[in-house]
Order: sequence, then C-alpha cells, then structure tokens
Amino acid sequence: MTDPLPSPATSPLVRAGLQQEVPHTPVWFMRQAGRSLPEYRKVREGIPMLESCRTPELVTEITLQPVRRHGVDAAIFFSDIVVPLMAVGLDLEIVAGVGPVIAEPIRTRADLDRLPELTPDMVPDITESVRLLVAELGPTPLIGFAGAPFTLASYLVEGGPSKNHERTKALMHGDPELWHALCARLAQISGVFLSVQAEAGASAVQLFDSWAGFLSRADYLEHVEPHSRAVLSTFAGAHPGVPRIHFGVGTGELLPAMAEAGTEVIGVDYRVSLTDALERTGGRYAVQGNLDPALLFAPWEALERRVREIVEEGRRAPGHIFNLGHGVLPSTDPEVLTRVVELVHRLSAR
Ligand code: CP3
Repeated sequence: MTDPLPSPATSPLVRAGLQQEVPHTPVWFMRQAGRSLPEYRKVREGIPMLESCRTPELVTEITLQPVRRHGVDAAIFFSDIVVPLMAVGLDLEIVAGVGPVIAEPIRTRADLDRLPELTPDMVPDITESVRLLVAELGPTPLIGFAGAPFTLASYLVEGGPSKNHERTKALMHGDPELWHALCARLAQISGVFLSVQAEAGASAVQLFDSWAGFLSRADYLEHVEPHSRAVLSTFAGAHPGVPRIHFGVGTGELLPAMAEAGTEVIGVDYRVSLTDALERTGGRYAVQGNLDPALLFAPWEALERRVREIVEEGRRAPGHIFNLGHGVLPSTDPEVLTRVVELVHRLSAR
C-alpha cells in the first residue's frame, strides 16, 4: 500500500493522538504563538489582545508564525479561553502581564443571567479564522481549544487571576446548586466554542483546565468532572476521530480522573514523569508533554539530556505528543525552541 497523501487527518499529531504508528514524535508547544517571537510582538504592537483574537487576518498570521519558524507538527489556534465569554457579552479584558480581568464577577444567580448560552452565529470570526488557517496550513493540523468549566469559572468568580481560588471554592461548597448551574452554562459555551472550530476544520482539540490542580481529587470528582465530561463527550459524539487532549497544571493526583473524563490524550505537566503518568492512567491513553518550560533557559547539554529522556519515556506510551509541561515563557529564546523541535524529530525518526 502506498502512503496516503499528506493531510491533517494522517498527520503525526493526529495519528499519535489516535494511538497509530507515526514517522516521528510530533511536537508543538503551548503558547508557541506569543511574546517569545519578535514577529509576534511586531504585529501585535498597539492592538489589544482580545481585539487581535477577533481579527481573522491577524489570528491567521499569528497562528502561522511559530509553524513557519519552528517547523512544529501542529498550529494552535491563536485565541484565548475568555474569547467565548466575551462573545456572549461579558465585559472583560486581558491585561498584559496579568491575564483576564472581568468587570463584574459572577457570584449570584442574577449574575448568571448575564452569561447567556453561546451560539455559533456569535462567533462568525472564529469560523472565518479557522477556515483561513486550514487553507494556509495544508497538511499541518490545527489544534482548536477551549477553557474547561472550572478554569473559566475561577476567572469569572474571582474577577481575574487568583492565587488561591478562595471565592471559587467558597461558591462551590457554599451554593453547590449555583455552582453546578454556572459550570453547566460554561460547559455549553466551551462545547460550542470547540465544535465551531472543529466544524471549520480543526483536526484536534485541547481542553485547558489549567487551574484544576488546585482542587482535591474529591472536589474535582464531585464539582468539576461532570462538567468537563459533558464538554468532552458531546464533542466526541459530534466529531468522532478528532483527538481530544485534556490538560491541566499540577494535576498529578487528578490524572486518572481527567483521563477517564473522556479523552484520547492526557496532558502531563512537568511535575510528573511521563512514566508515572502512564502508570497512573493504566497505559491506555496517549500522553502529551512534558518538558519544564524553565529548562529552555538551561545550557543546551542539560536541555538535550532532558529532551532525550522524555522522548525515551514517550516510546513506552501508546502515543506521545512532545510538548512543554506548560506554556512557553515570554523571555524564552525562540532559537532554542527550534532546536528542540529538530532534536525531537531526529531522536524519534522511525
Ligand atoms: O500558542 C498558544 O498557545 C496561543 C493561544 C493561547 C493563548 N491563550 C494566547 C494568549 C491559548 C491556548 C490560551 C489559553 C489560555 N488563556 C489559558 C490556558 C492555557 C494556560 O496557559 O494554562 C489561560 C489560563 C488563559 C488566560 C490568560 N490569557 C492568561 C493567564 C494570559 C497571560 C497574561 C500575561 O500577559 O501574562 C492571557 C493572555 C494571553 N493569551 C497571551 C497570549 C499570547 C498574552 C497576551 C499578549 O501577548 O499580550
């Protein structure tokens, strides 16, 4: 049999996600598009983050920049987890160096009425951006994404980034009914945001539950997992064959629960080895990760040693997507990222 024509559906990233043979370990980096790239800083100059996210030509250019520069195996859609919240009418902004800030936090039932359901016609720009991108990317897959209900709820309840998530946990335990209503609404919004991207041609999706690691396993299972499960299972029903990646930070204790919530790929941060992650999830899931983003600042020999270890550990997984354990730090030297891509490809070539 001759090889199928190169296409996103037969790309190393999608194949690894579906536990199929790959020609090499696919690599991409969370936050590969962003401030580490001078070409990004140039096109973003004077344009607020959320305005950039809603301008298809700019989204396309920024998403493609790291693909051109690093030769990564996937593009990640340039957007933000709060874009769908903005689309349903919430007053919010992304403050540089801080993160999303919500003008009026959501803490009561009346507040929840300010958060209507998302419908695809509220985000025509997302459809347009994804279509433009898929046309430009050719065989390189585009990864769509959304924030998971807990991580979104934390921003909404706290009003911005939080160290301890205390108001969020107070609501979760103090008014579980309102908490579940809020998370169910957020699951609807995230689900539509993901499906709009897949309908327009995204070949894989990542659900970011960045702050889930702040929860105990019991809290995760009772108050959060059902809502993430709803997003993931609705997506799988509508888009079979599009691999799902479920990721959080500091989630070593939650890996089995996050895997079983419904995913093909479990994202692993740098605090847990891929070997331990595989063991904790029964070796049944593809893994994504998990280079510590701070190691990109170490001497090349030390970095190379760690990359080799991760590629080796990944060989024991039913599928491995090389990534960082969290996002690229803004002061990272982009040339180091390019070298890591080349190294992973060289080490893993079959
Ligand atoms: O390459 C990519 O990953 C690009 C797409 C992307 C962005 N945000 C762009 C962005 C993705 C996937 C996100 C998701 C996102 N946004 C998450 C989940 C991922 C994670 O890091 O855990 C979270 C928690 C957010 C919320 C958010 N938005 C934060 C914490 C910040 C950083 C604030 C800062 O300035 O340090 C943002 C802003 C943001 N989102 C930037 C980018 C490139 C920086 C804004 C800028 O360049 O001016």
